Amino acid sequence: MAPLIPTMTSKRPAGPNAALSTAPADGPIVRAVQRADLDQVIAIDAGVTGLEKRKYWASVYRRYGSGERSEQQFLVAIDQGRVVGFIIGEVRDWEFGSPPCGWVFAIDVLPQARLGGIGTRLLETISAAFRRAGVRKLRTMLARDNPLILSFFRSQGMMAGPLISLEMDLE
Ligand SMILES: CC(C)(COP(=O)(O)OP(=O)(O)OC[C@H]1O[C@@H](n2cnc3c(N)ncnc32)[C@H](O)[C@@H]1OP(=O)(O)O)[C@@H](O)C(=O)NCCC(=O)NCCS
Repeated sequence: MAPLIPTMTSKRPAGPNAALSTAPADGPIVRAVQRADLDQVIAIDAGVTGLEKRKYWASVYRRYGSGERSEQQFLVAIDQGRVVGFIIGEVRDWEFGSPPCGWVFAIDVLPQARLGGIGTRLLETISAAFRRAGVRKLRTMLARDNPLILSFFRSQGMMAGPLISLEMDLE
């Protein structure tokens, strides 16, 4: 598949995420996303959601992919040179009246790579970055009809929080 944006060969400047790469003795590593990873991220997302959203992902990359701030994280898990999962999140200050906390917006692991600890490693790595940013609380939102993601977050120690989501149709 052709890259969405030409591959950058220059090295990313050393920011907080430079120290994020985790390299266990074996298995995938987790590191900050690079431009050349985007096609694979888009393909994983399209496989899970059934929608290919190139413009959306380009904008997510612009916003979260700089790798320069612990507060904004777009991480990928790499196994044998290919992207097998990603996680995106951000520290939000005082939104919904809450003290600053880390939010996970998205996590996906390639279906063939699941149940091998990659999701856990992604969540651990983003949590470490948020701790470095000074926050001590992690939050996320999930669809009620997605028991898989609920099982995963529960397995990581997450429980129902103090916020509830509300919505209505806008005519
Ligand atoms: C949820 C997800 C990220 C988990 O990734 P993973 O790499 O398989 O997770 P791990 O291997 O680290 O699993 C950790 C724990 O999560 C739970 N878990 C993971 N998959 C599970 C499943 N299919 N059923 C029940 N529990 C599950 C288990 O407790 C597991 O621990 P265990 O293996 O010791 O039993 C992955 O299944 C995924 O990408 N699902 C689709 C996500 C999605 O819908 N994203 C869109 C909204 S953001």
